[in-house]
Amino acid sequence: MAGDMADNVILVGFMGAGKSSVGRLLARRLGRCFVETDDMITAKEGRPIPEIFTAKGEPHFRALEDEAVRLLALKRGNVIATGGGLPCQEGRVEALQALGTVVWLSGELATLLERALRGGDRPMLHGKTRDEIDALYKSRVPYYSKADLKVDTTTLNSDQVAAEVLMALRLRTGPPHPALSPSGGEGSSSS
Ligand code: S3P
Repeated sequence: MAGDMADNVILVGFMGAGKSSVGRLLARRLGRCFVETDDMITAKEGRPIPEIFTAKGEPHFRALEDEAVRLLALKRGNVIATGGGLPCQEGRVEALQALGTVVWLSGELATLLERALRGGDRPMLHGKTRDEIDALYKSRVPYYSKADLKVDTTTLNSDQVAAEVLMALRLRTGPPHPALSPSGGEGSSSS
């Protein structure tokens, strides 16, 4: 698949899916660099995501995501966590697939929301009713569904999700791929 050329592993999914924590674990286990599109945006703008939304609005944030995706083209062999809304536009998942293997961290919405509300400020959830959040989630599923691999995180912790992703990547690539082996031959399962 063309996506294997750049050999990145790209995590997508709704808020609360665990993209950041799982991505960090995966990167450590694979001996790769970890990149987050939200961090790229925060660094560029010099302020946190909620402030970007407040000061400049969602359209500006989405434009920053477009730019982050263009910059991802420079990445090779990284683990990349994307913001929950980043893959949700026409052609975007395909653009990510040109950069590597796209993995959807899925889950039951109630569980994802519980995690998201526990884990920091999510401007996309501000002032929204549960019905509105349901609608947002449903509108995004068709994009996430285009991913190459899917791991249901509902009943798993980050360690378990990372292990599932590793297994799915190995199954997909067949015999052990040097780039997908734990660095230095260590299982590094301790963290
Ligand atoms: C967003 C998700 C956030 C962040 C921004 C917008 C979204 O990332 O990119 O607040 O539209 O779902 P997480 O998915 O890491 O929470």
